[in-house]
Amino acid sequence: MRLLVTGGAGFIGSNFVHLTARERPEVEITVLDALTYAGDETSLAPVADSVRLVQGDITDGKLVDRLVSTSDLVVHFAAESHNDNSLANPWPFVQTNLIGTYTLLEAVRKHGVRYHHISTDEVYGDLELDDPAKFTDATPYNPSSPYSATKAGSDLLVRAWARSFGIAATISNCSNNYGPYQHVEKFIPRQITNLIDGIRPRLYGAGENVRDWIHVEDHNTAVWTIIDKGRLGETYLIGADGEKNNLEVVQALLEVFGRPADDFDHVTDRAGHDLRYAIDSQKLRTELGWEPRFTDFKAGLVDTVDWYKANEAWWRPAKAATEAKYSTAGH
Ligand code: NAD
Ligand code: TYD
Repeated sequence: MRLLVTGGAGFIGSNFVHLTARERPEVEITVLDALTYAGDETSLAPVADSVRLVQGDITDGKLVDRLVSTSDLVVHFAAESHNDNSLANPWPFVQTNLIGTYTLLEAVRKHGVRYHHISTDEVYGDLELDDPAKFTDATPYNPSSPYSATKAGSDLLVRAWARSFGIAATISNCSNNYGPYQHVEKFIPRQITNLIDGIRPRLYGAGENVRDWIHVEDHNTAVWTIIDKGRLGETYLIGADGEKNNLEVVQALLEVFGRPADDFDHVTDRAGHDLRYAIDSQKLRTELGWEPRFTDFKAGLVDTVDWYKANEAWWRPAKAATEAKYSTAGH
């Protein structure tokens, strides 16, 4: 099988390539990645012998057409992925998440290639803290930020191309991921690398916002399950019942580092900050038989802290510039 992975040098995409190279050696893997600030070729170094990396943009119609025409399956991870950046400058989000997805869909339609679309639970907006409800694939779309709005738009393009043109597509919407190779701009790696540097963690607002954490490896096994067994045209929500508020996450990290539970700072809140995300993944579990394996969040955090301690050369180059950007934004 010839597999094209877009965004395969980013956080989740590179972990997906590692998993695929390890568990499916028969798959020929090509990665298409623009190597933006968020992409890093060295994330693929451990599997470099099993992967062809093409540096290029998913909005480049000619390049995309050529690569899709020689693939059997496209898994589309490439995106502008950070909410705070989308508030500072939404344009790259419109370009990559909307135009990029459109470009891929047209190539997939032309060449009749199977397509899996990676998306986020943030397309559903947010839930109240005390709401017993969780997101399902029937929840109406209600995105809050330029990031989630462009992801929602990209999902709707996929649905339209499946219904109107009959492309062979599935969509997955996953909750917040953590694990190795995540950029230091994101919440958990930012606090881990701050703590390594002796800097206090930074909580937006009161720290009450809830995210439904899942280990990146569980996200990626779910993606393969959907590709193997999912019904075409369907949307599957991926989650591992990992709801935690941000204060709990910071305090768990402080404990791992042996620091007092109040050793953090509150900083300016994010504009339009979604309150709570929570996934109901029953459809994926009962219909396709998937189960998460990394259900001990604390143990997953300890492994992730160990990874950042052992891989300083990977994250250090991005750290100072990321913190400078945050300090300009008051975070
Ligand atoms: P990331 O920012 O770490 O990686 C994105 C990758 O896409 C980078 O390698 C970047 O170079 C590449 N890229 C960006 N623009 C491109 C373009 N125009 N052409 C080609 N490549 C381009 O993101 P991530 O956290 O790994 O997220 C991957 C996907 O998963 C995204 O679609 C995101 O919306 C989705 N998702 C992420 C999470 C999460 O918690 N991180 C949760 C659910 C869904
Ligand atoms: P983030 O990793 O940006 O993911 P998302 O916005 O997609 O959920 O942030 C996760 C949560 O952590 C979110 O509620 C914002 C919060 N946050 C902080 O409290 N401090 C920080 O330094 C960052 C980066 C995020």
